[in-house]
Amino acid sequence: MGILFDEQKRIFKLDTPASSYVMAVADKDKFLGHVYYGEKIEDEDVCYFLRADDYPFMPEKMERERVPFMGGFPFEFSGHGCGDFRSSCIEIRTTDGYTTVNPVYVSHRIVQGKPVLDGMPAASGIPAVFASEKDCSTLEIILEDKPSSVEIHLFYTVFEKLDVIVKSSCVHNTGKKPLFLTKFLSSSLTFENEPALDVLTLHGAWARERNIQRRPISYGSYKIESRRGETSHLVNPFMAVLEHNADQRQGNVYGVSLVYSGNFVMEAELDSTDSVRVTAGIGTDNFCWKLESGASFSAPEALLVFSADGIGGMSRIYHDLFRNHLIRSKYKFQDRPVLLNSWEAAYFDFDTDKLLGIAKEAAARGVELFVLDDGWFGKRNDDNTSLGDWFVNEKKLPGGLVRLSEEVHKMGIKFGVWFEPEMVSPDSDLYRAHPDWALSVPGRIRSLARNQLVLDYSRPEVCNYIYNMVSAVIREAKIDYVKWDMNRSLCEVASATLPADRQGEVLHRYVLGMYRLQGRLVTDFPDLLLENCSAGGARFDPAMIYFSPQIWCSDDTDAIERLAVQEGTAVVYPLSCMGAHVSVCPNHITRRTTPFETRAMVALAGTFGYELDITKLSDEDKNAVPYQIKLYHRFGSLMREGDYYRLLSYAGNRCWDSWQVVSKDKKSSLVTVIQVVTEPNRRSRRLRLEGLDSAKSYKVEVVRMSDAELSEAAAADAVYLEGRTFSGSTLMNAGILVHRTPGDFAGTMYYITAK
Ligand code: GLA
Repeated sequence: MGILFDEQKRIFKLDTPASSYVMAVADKDKFLGHVYYGEKIEDEDVCYFLRADDYPFMPEKMERERVPFMGGFPFEFSGHGCGDFRSSCIEIRTTDGYTTVNPVYVSHRIVQGKPVLDGMPAASGIPAVFASEKDCSTLEIILEDKPSSVEIHLFYTVFEKLDVIVKSSCVHNTGKKPLFLTKFLSSSLTFENEPALDVLTLHGAWARERNIQRRPISYGSYKIESRRGETSHLVNPFMAVLEHNADQRQGNVYGVSLVYSGNFVMEAELDSTDSVRVTAGIGTDNFCWKLESGASFSAPEALLVFSADGIGGMSRIYHDLFRNHLIRSKYKFQDRPVLLNSWEAAYFDFDTDKLLGIAKEAAARGVELFVLDDGWFGKRNDDNTSLGDWFVNEKKLPGGLVRLSEEVHKMGIKFGVWFEPEMVSPDSDLYRAHPDWALSVPGRIRSLARNQLVLDYSRPEVCNYIYNMVSAVIREAKIDYVKWDMNRSLCEVASATLPADRQGEVLHRYVLGMYRLQGRLVTDFPDLLLENCSAGGARFDPAMIYFSPQIWCSDDTDAIERLAVQEGTAVVYPLSCMGAHVSVCPNHITRRTTPFETRAMVALAGTFGYELDITKLSDEDKNAVPYQIKLYHRFGSLMREGDYYRLLSYAGNRCWDSWQVVSKDKKSSLVTVIQVVTEPNRRSRRLRLEGLDSAKSYKVEVVRMSDAELSEAAAADAVYLEGRTFSGSTLMNAGILVHRTPGDFAGTMYYITAK
């Protein structure tokens, strides 16, 4: 078991294969202190850190110097208003108006596995990591703040074979009166006197999500948060703290990823004692939860990963964690059907004949799933109307989805549709019948975005109504795949049915309502393949991959823009989660033209599919489609289950981008190299590979993307690679030679197999 408790010294030591996490209960006042997190250590008692002579913790001075003590103690779960002026984990307001809270240790228990304990996120409907008894053990620590009648349970699930600690928290009101929770976070970490630390976060906007930002942590506070009611395009619920000199391959890296899809906050605060406190949890904006006497509130899980092998090491741990312990879908370890989505093919301009024409050509070329995107319901011919009216537009599609689905199924392929179940158009039957079902504040403008309003998912009757409509469509038309979209942020947040003192709960209740619906959907339709989407990738977070094994990464389908989006996404999320498609050129968003095969190489790093009217492709491109689909299946399990290595970053070097995936047994590997921009008068490039077995002997094959001739550069590579073998040590140290290609946006893929 990876959890030790030293009864006498009251020390908790949590061990994963390569990391240790130590906490201790301080002698006086029973404060729970954070002592150490990092590379594995052997000794349990490292609590001299809490007892240093010059440390403010000096029991004899405690009476007169309590405030300096509180301001410096490395609280494991910090209170508020008692002299610790750094960022807090809990803030409350009692019915008497008091806000001070200061939890101390009471008791603990240790259990094998990760049972769903009362108060854990999963018990409250929040998606959570799952694991069997042999995978992990769980520590539950109980703290209390007697004057405010608050009891806090901290949960730590420690993995046996992964360097992961899952943290969450739950608060109970043990008093007789209600109290108001205005902040309640999931996790806090302290780094004392560390060498210079950086913080790495993922930022963006619509069509350029999850670009990597790295900066030194400096005095003051660096905070990322969403106040939009959804995860957002702007920033992902992820933060890594890393040593200044850490890179892809080496250095200590600490990741924090939050399993949540609404407002969140993550903060790294460096104080005058050179300690960094890193906190994470539900966002405080517009949050106020009324906790009745006897009631509890659970915070979502924060997934902590430690790696001494740099950013790449951390990414691989997250990928393993998500694949094996978070994604529930039965499709997670299966090749996904290669789909063609109608959005960029037709937008709103389609009828049955046009759709069937595209589906027929797609099926003939090997596509396995045809997806009808937006525009099939109500009176929807543009994005102005009908959200909420989830019945088919028979004028556009005579015979409805049932006929379309039958026809598509007859072609031997699957059929999927798009929904945006959380939204309502003011011009819809649903809104006319139930205007109060939209989030709004009485007397205020209902601010529109994409001409739509947000349904009040904090209300069960709203969720049930929508679910009945959506599930009827899926059942009747025998739908195989659903794209669940969500295209705007939440504002004027209020619910028509909640009392005044519960309006601060709407945002979290909304998220819980959405989770319940997605949970129902995948339970009632176990064979359904669900893909989440949010105006591209605004809700690409761990909680959503709990429900859907894939998420549409970005509305930007331009292969070059996608390099940065997919690189940033893969810092945390496995490639098998990334919805990635080949679209036409000039690209609809950037107007850039890239080779068809480069577009395929980039999409092959994700779930792979097409987002185009296949009937309009040139014969050459049409002929390449079956070839590309075969490649997806050839490399499917490798890409889905293998270890990911980032070799080169175009975002950093402005020329080359490269990634590699290596099978767990190190017998096969796929390397993709994209020469983004040509630079004159430069030599070919040496590329060092990673993750192979030094002692194994490998063949390196230049992958053909179609029947067409290899490009000049790929042909030159093939000449020296063909017919010979390389040791893993040669490939990883000396590397391979990648010839330059005249022209921009060229790519080459290399398939490496052990002899
Ligand atoms: C969002 C999605 C797109 C498409 C449109 C349809 O923008 O990200 O992929 O489904 O909605 O309106």
